[in-house]
Amino acid sequence: MSKAFDYLLEEVRALHLEHPAVRDFCAMPDDLTPQAITPTHQPAADLMAMDTRLYSQPHAGLRDAFLAAGVGAQWRESYDRNVIGGAFMDRFGVYCLIGSGGPWASAQMACYMVYMPAKLWYTWHHHPAEEMYVIIAGEAEFSRKGHAPETLRPGNTVFHASNQPHATETHDHPVMAYVMWRNNLGIRPTLTPPEMM
Ligand SMILES: [Fe+2]
Repeated sequence: MSKAFDYLLEEVRALHLEHPAVRDFCAMPDDLTPQAITPTHQPAADLMAMDTRLYSQPHAGLRDAFLAAGVGAQWRESYDRNVIGGAFMDRFGVYCLIGSGGPWASAQMACYMVYMPAKLWYTWHHHPAEEMYVIIAGEAEFSRKGHAPETLRPGNTVFHASNQPHATETHDHPVMAYVMWRNNLGIRPTLTPPEMM
């Protein structure tokens, strides 16, 4: 296990203790099991490493821990690029901390780092897992079916119910988020067809 991931895990543990919405969504798992990962690379990893506009108060420590761990992470290809488009896949970044492809496994939750550079549209999608986003750095506009879009900044959260369609758009800023899943882990997101909207 790399020191960068060990440090990141402690920063995440602190967030679960300190942030009321995070604490209410799920406790830090008590069944963490280390597992081997194969570091992989995506173009978004370089965009994130070079991004100078990830402003982050009060979460600069967690932002820096996500940046440091990103060097040795297993960056994932979340969607078929033939479906969502190469222009999106070359800019959208995600790696797992707890769960499949992450350095720890748990039956209780999964969590990820998601990065989007400025001016990117992440189209409508859904998944059976319940989800919470916590903005760590930058800002983005979050849309969920049944709600008006809202711009979220560091410390803000948004909850997505099971199979509730949601979408994210960055404008002049990039965004880095800590994303937690609970229930129905292991079923990947799918793009939401227009008839579900
Ligand atoms: Fe989601």
